[in-house]
Amino acid sequence: MSMRIDLPIAPDFPYGDALLTAITLARRAGDLLLSLHRQGPRRVMTKSTGVDLLTEADLASQDLILTELSRRFPEHGILAEETDGHHETANGALWLVDPLDGTTNFAHRFPVFAVSIALWVDGRPQVGVVQDVVRERTYWAAAGQGAWLADERRLQVSETSELGQSLLATGFPYRRAINTDNNLAEFNALMPATRGVRRAGSAALDMAWVADGRLDGYWEPYLAPWDWAAGILLVTEAGGMVSDYGGGPLHMGSRTVVASNGRLHDALLAAVQEARRRAGLPIML
Ligand code: IPD
Ligand code: CA
Ligand code: CA
Repeated sequence: MSMRIDLPIAPDFPYGDALLTAITLARRAGDLLLSLHRQGPRRVMTKSTGVDLLTEADLASQDLILTELSRRFPEHGILAEETDGHHETANGALWLVDPLDGTTNFAHRFPVFAVSIALWVDGRPQVGVVQDVVRERTYWAAAGQGAWLADERRLQVSETSELGQSLLATGFPYRRAINTDNNLAEFNALMPATRGVRRAGSAALDMAWVADGRLDGYWEPYLAPWDWAAGILLVTEAGGMVSDYGGGPLHMGSRTVVASNGRLHDALLAAVQEARRRAGLPIML
């Protein structure tokens, strides 16, 4: 898989090396996952609940990415899904890595899963890469440099301005069987109010597809930073909006995400909030 290195970024963008490294690693990890996917069913382990899965592929992908990140950027911190805690960072730079976003899909050979790699510096996203493994597409964004599909074209959010004409995506938390705050109230409110709500099973790809105008909006509760750290930069650099359920900016402690083309943001946010109020649920987690 080749990638020209003349990415359309300004020469003074300070994280160009990080961007190239993130793209290269997301593609290498994607190649690894794709070859494992083609080999057939994997042995599956469980984590927080019986439906929160882990495969050898999550670990192999993470190992590939973290080994190289630590070698190239020893001064940066790393927060990755399948490790305990994260390295402290003296200079405010933190990599956020989801080595396989969509593990349930991967385990069942349902062909929607991704690699997500982001670099945040002083609490702001600078670089975000989401590799669509099965379609072999690299979505990337850099702060102030736009969001792009590989080196092919710039990403632009959709122009849909009515919820009734929108296609949305969401996801349901792993603790959905034991926690009544399981996104069904929000889903029940939004499904009939839109053209459809998809649950494809990869939060990172859901956000990449909002950035690419294939989806008009996305919401999901109980996410971790590695799920959204790259995707939200794709959305904002493609002209969209991202907030938590309260309408505020995301930070490392955020557990809820609403991402949209911007035009729909207020309506989507209001619908999520209203559904939660009616269900007696707090707006924020
Ligand atoms: C999950 C996927 C899924 C979303 C879950 C995430 P994982 O990530 O992004 O679409 O609904 O909330 O945890 O566990 O496959 O990396
Ligand atoms: Ca994930
Ligand atoms: Ca994962």
